[in-house]
Amino acid sequence: MNTATVEGVQTRKLYIESYGCAMNFSDSEIIASIMGEHGFVQAQDEYEADVIFLNTCAIRDNAEQRIRERLKRLRSNKRKNSDLIIGVLGCMAERLKDKLLEEEKLVDVVAGPDSYRDLPKLVAEVTDGARAINVLLSREETYGDLNPVRLNSNGITAFVSIMRGCDNMCSFCVVPFTRGRERSRDPQSIVREVIDLRDQDFKEVILLGQNVNSYLWFGGGPKKEYKKLTPLEQETSVDFANLLEMVALAAPKMRIRYSTSHPRDITENVVLTMAKYPNICNYIHLPAQSGNSRVLDAMSRNYTREWYLSKITMIRDIIPNCGISCDIIAGFCTETEEEHTDTLTLIEEAQFDFSYMYMYSERPGTPAAKKFTDDIPEDLKKRRLQDIIRVQNEVSKTKNNNRIGQVYSVLIEGDSKKSPNDWVGRSDENVVVVFPKEQFEKGMYVDVQIERATTTTLIGKGLNESIPF
Ligand code: SAH
Ligand code: SF4
Ligand code: F3S
Repeated sequence: MNTATVEGVQTRKLYIESYGCAMNFSDSEIIASIMGEHGFVQAQDEYEADVIFLNTCAIRDNAEQRIRERLKRLRSNKRKNSDLIIGVLGCMAERLKDKLLEEEKLVDVVAGPDSYRDLPKLVAEVTDGARAINVLLSREETYGDLNPVRLNSNGITAFVSIMRGCDNMCSFCVVPFTRGRERSRDPQSIVREVIDLRDQDFKEVILLGQNVNSYLWFGGGPKKEYKKLTPLEQETSVDFANLLEMVALAAPKMRIRYSTSHPRDITENVVLTMAKYPNICNYIHLPAQSGNSRVLDAMSRNYTREWYLSKITMIRDIIPNCGISCDIIAGFCTETEEEHTDTLTLIEEAQFDFSYMYMYSERPGTPAAKKFTDDIPEDLKKRRLQDIIRVQNEVSKTKNNNRIGQVYSVLIEGDSKKSPNDWVGRSDENVVVVFPKEQFEKGMYVDVQIERATTTTLIGKGLNESIPF
């Protein structure tokens, strides 16, 4: 076994690989913290690891196929090191539970998103020759007291998880089954984590939750509706707008972002709070999923096309240049050609800066899988997705072309992927900007004059360091 000794304590090496959404990447930092307290240090690569954790995603079938492929490739690691422990954590672990142990013989540990405190014990059980599983979901766990270990961080941006789970039950979605009931984290612990990041010289935090606009703290425990709180709980409760304000005030020199907003729950109060504090970025990820009200109803999204567009108007009335992005699903069950066209016109009307676009993938056990047949043939889904991508690209290109000549304050995040001579960063509105390094440094805000544009990126020249707030 690959062991090392640090200050007399036996340490073992842990390698974590994360898949899926930002919440999963944020969870891996919690996992590293829990394992760190039990003598595990981060391995440089999978080959020197004693324990490999795959923190998995189950959102679409292809996400799970990727993990299966990865597990196949890990067989040779196990052949070379029979003591190697392989754990599957996260949403796929929660979805498949002990089936995963039956199906994937090389997996030693299976742990769901609410059982990470149990990981050191589960790993110890494996060392004794057993295989170990904990997939219990919790109504209280937020890991709020832990100090995440920042993994693969650029040192500029950090994720801060503000809530867990989701109570929405959108019919297509596996998340309520893999992450359990919604619960909010103590705002004081969130503020403490942000202050800690500020003191470590991070420049930006992204507050994370599946539906941040339903954040509500009233003393802990499972979610309750605001009107069901006692008068004292109501008086001392903290909603998402309050939380944003607390965080913005605690770190006035840091950029504050958040994700994801549900169109049904986003309030004027949240957008007014964004407008009030210059360090809260003018950017909202507001997944529509479809532009057709009947399809939205079948998806159980609880809003119509008109409601969605009224939220876009509300946002742009308060913050005219607000960056807005979207998630879209192509070929949901029963979607007609005409209904698909409504999604294309929604993209044009809403003028999204960009979208994450997917083909519908049926997830076993979800309301949609029970209620509908997955009746749109694969090639039709593909064609509809191509339509959506084409229209979104046209909108993005036009929007970016209109930005040529303007000056944006850009926070430098690191080297541009394409050239070591260029920096890459983002504007307040979350537009990606690339420009020559010159005298500027990582972590600086720079006023950049835009000279060229592609669908996804603005290219410009740094003018001077700027102090945006
Ligand atoms: N909580 C977020 C979304 C989390 S999942 C929200 O409600 O907006 C991220 C995205 O994956 C979703 O917005 C949706 O567009 C997509 N998605 C979820 N389930 C899917 C499925 N079964 N097939 C295809 N895309 C899916
Ligand atoms: Fe899934 Fe809907 Fe919850 Fe988002 S809001 S995680 S799409 S159930
Ligand atoms: Fe995937 Fe789970 Fe996130 S299913 S998208 S990792 S919440």
